[in-house]
Amino acid sequence: MDMMTRKASPHHIVFANEKGGTGKSTSAVHVAVALSYLGFRVGAIDLDPRQRTLHRYLENRVATQQRRSITLPTPNFEVFQDDTQARLEQMVTKMSQDCD
Ligand SMILES: Nc1ncnc2c1ncn2[C@@H]1O[C@H](COP(=O)(O)OP(=O)(O)O)[C@@H](O)[C@H]1O
Ligand SMILES: [Mg+2]
Repeated sequence: MDMMTRKASPHHIVFANEKGGTGKSTSAVHVAVALSYLGFRVGAIDLDPRQRTLHRYLENRVATQQRRSITLPTPNFEVFQDDTQARLEQMVTKMSQDCD
C-alpha cells in the first residue's frame, strides 16, 4: 500500500525513566498540549496512578475551561490503573481509534 491509501496508525511518544522527578510528567504535558494546539488529536495515558501528575493537570485544564466558558485544545486523557501489558495494550488500542 502506498502512503495515500494506508490507514495512518497513531504515533506513540513514551516518556519513561525509572527515576522519579526527572521531568517525565512535565515534558508529557507540554508535548501533549503543544500537539493539540497544532491540531493533532492527542491521547494521553498517565502510567503513574499514584501521582497522576499528567492526569491531574489535564483535569484542571478541563475545569478551567468550564469555569471560564472557554475552549482550549486539550488531549483526551486516561490514567492506567492496571498492571499487565495486555491491559495497557487494550487501552492504547482503544484510545488510538480517535488519535493521531
Ligand atoms: N525543565 C524543567 N526545569 C525545571 N524544573 C522542572 C523541569 N521539568 C520538570 N521540572 C520540575 O521537576 C519536578 C519533577 O517533575 P515531574 O515532571 O513531576 O517528574 P516525573 O514525572 O519524572 O516524576 C517538578 O517540580 C517539576 O515542576
Ligand atoms: Mg510523573
